[in-house]
Amino acid sequence: MRATRTIPERAPRLLAVPDAARVSPETPGVEALHHATFLQLPMGVGYATRDGCFIWCNEAFDRMLGLAPGEHKQKSIRDLTHAADFSSSDELLQDLWEGRIGSYSREKRYVKCDGAELWVRVTAAMVRMPDGDPICSVGFLEDISSTRKMELEVERVQKALVEASRLAGMAEVATNVLHNVGNVLNSINVSASLAAERLKNSKGARLGDVAALLNQHQDDIAQFMAQDPRGLKLPQYLTALAVQLQGERELLLKELADLRANHDHIKESVTMQQAYARRCGVLETVGVEELVEDSLRMNAGALTRHRVKLRRDYRDRSELTVDKHKVLQILVNLIRNAKYACDESGHDDKQVVVRIEAVPEGARISVIDNGVGIAPEVMSRLFSHGFTTRKSGHGFGLHSAALAAAELGGSLQARSEGTGRGATFQLTLPLRPSEHRND
Ligand SMILES: Nc1ncnc2c1ncn2[C@@H]1O[C@H](COP(=O)(O)OP(=O)(O)OP(=O)(O)O)[C@@H](O)[C@H]1O
Ligand SMILES: [Mg+2]
Repeated sequence: MRATRTIPERAPRLLAVPDAARVSPETPGVEALHHATFLQLPMGVGYATRDGCFIWCNEAFDRMLGLAPGEHKQKSIRDLTHAADFSSSDELLQDLWEGRIGSYSREKRYVKCDGAELWVRVTAAMVRMPDGDPICSVGFLEDISSTRKMELEVERVQKALVEASRLAGMAEVATNVLHNVGNVLNSINVSASLAAERLKNSKGARLGDVAALLNQHQDDIAQFMAQDPRGLKLPQYLTALAVQLQGERELLLKELADLRANHDHIKESVTMQQAYARRCGVLETVGVEELVEDSLRMNAGALTRHRVKLRRDYRDRSELTVDKHKVLQILVNLIRNAKYACDESGHDDKQVVVRIEAVPEGARISVIDNGVGIAPEVMSRLFSHGFTTRKSGHGFGLHSAALAAAELGGSLQARSEGTGRGATFQLTLPLRPSEHRND
């Protein structure tokens, strides 16, 4: 409860008003003026005894509390105080009567006769005899219900706003997770299909044929191997089969490794978003080339399927201390966008160049495509949430990529000579996060 207190000064001489204080013979004396003032004041004024019983209150006081004229005489401060403010009210009155404070001013709740709550600002002080002995306490009441109602409304709206922005934040986090997970799920699907295809066409089944043949010739195995043309070819056939199976095994292992890396990236995307509230990504020191290669691998299936030629132009091999998965999210988005842009162009010669170069700010990764290009008039909206020109697009990729780049202390820029003339997206990253990062 807000309350201000003053330290007691010398006793005020409220009752000792000399008659000489009259302004003119026609005007009333100061005492009469005081009386009229208190009666007519638009504030509630109440005098109370040590035990809090009201001795005299003005009309405004009665009106404020819904009391009939004079009814206050049967009431005490406690009778009219809201239960929630009992203890603080008793405490302050006691301090006042015992001279520990000279006055106080606070906001408190009263209860009107009809049970309604009334917020008031009370300024209270002691009324004393000229020698300083206390006579009664006096309180000035200002109705602040409407201000208080407004304050409560502002508080409620503020809480609602905080909740709304929390929900919006959660929705953004969820969209981000879905978007990034969706990107990688495509690659997972491609790897899983390739692995299934390999297994379906595996030459492993032929081993069963060889075993069956050998079983048939259990009793004349030596003769079969030495004279039968199939037996004679068997060692050579088995050697060739072993080479093929080894090849298949290596391919399957590679697909499984890709699957695991993609799965890790999905896991990290989710974990990263969960950690988003705390904003503490895990920093790793990793070669920029390795990061770019990881992101290319995540898109490899899509690039091959759509016959997009990929050219690597690595001019720098710096190491970055970064939140690796944030960088991967950006690069995966850029490469997928480049692939779409190439696809939409309808060219036969679809090409994406990925360039790494050193710049004064750190390292720059450029994804350059010869796709549909970007019209100058949409350039300024490219990074806005929801801007998309693709039928199945969400307009989320570049928006989240630009935010992530800023969180990494870097930047993301787009360039294009115009429609049909390809596009270049440049991600510039510091070699290590600045100490003054405010993310
Ligand atoms: N390499 C590019 N070449 C031409 N236009 C591009 C390129 N990359 C992005 N754009 C334009 O920017 C828009 C926004 O890209 P963004 O990645 O934010 O969303 P999207 O790809 O449309 O959908 P999604 O949210 O699924 O990624 C695209 O719809 C496209 O018009
Ligand atoms: Mg996109």
